[in-house]
Amino acid sequence: MIVIDGVDGSGKGVQTRRLLQALVEAGEPAILTREPGGSPAAEDIRQLLVRGDPEKWDSMTELLLMYAARRSHLRDTIWPALEAGNWVISDRFADSSRAFQGIAGNLGLDTVENIHQVVVGDFTPALVLILDIPESLALARARERGDSEDRFEKKGAEYHARVRAAFLDIAASDTQQYVIVNADQNMDQVNQDIIEIINNRFSLNLKATGGKD
Ligand code: TMP
Repeated sequence: MIVIDGVDGSGKGVQTRRLLQALVEAGEPAILTREPGGSPAAEDIRQLLVRGDPEKWDSMTELLLMYAARRSHLRDTIWPALEAGNWVISDRFADSSRAFQGIAGNLGLDTVENIHQVVVGDFTPALVLILDIPESLALARARERGDSEDRFEKKGAEYHARVRAAFLDIAASDTQQYVIVNADQNMDQVNQDIIEIINNRFSLNLKATGGKD
């Protein structure tokens, strides 16, 4: 399982799709999924989380909903796909809970880890790529999308600055598990950087894909 995570508007959507395309073009069985969501039941929970007033849920309720969704995602999508021999590419996973609820939301990493252990256990992705970009640029991009899934975007610039710093701290804590990718470049360059990292790490020969975004 390979996760691409980072602040809102960092380009995860495009980059996860391109990575999936590169794997499929190389004949590797792979699925693309996302959080919150990624299974029918978890997509239902997503709708509760991503719309409406930012104060609708406090950080603890968000965390519990994220982990309820994650449990469904693991049980119904991720674990069966891995069992069947697929690569699983996920747009976000547990590090979003660490960064958003744990650090930016002030719950603390210990609280997240306690719940994580109960819900997920020792399962970890093979690699997590953190797309790093100044949060002001990323938020402007996310707002350009103009969709109604903007509950987290509305939490404001200071919250998102803490999310960015949190991802960088998390990545620094384990350089085997995490690789930081400079996402403040054009999409083709970011894609090339990601393909190079994946090829080196997993001894693959994927090719960067043309922009069919
Ligand atoms: P998305 O826009 O990347 O699909 O994610 C929706 C929002 O959910 C995004 O603002 C980040 C947030 N989020 C958390 O706060 N904690 C989590 O554990 C996950 C997976 C997402």
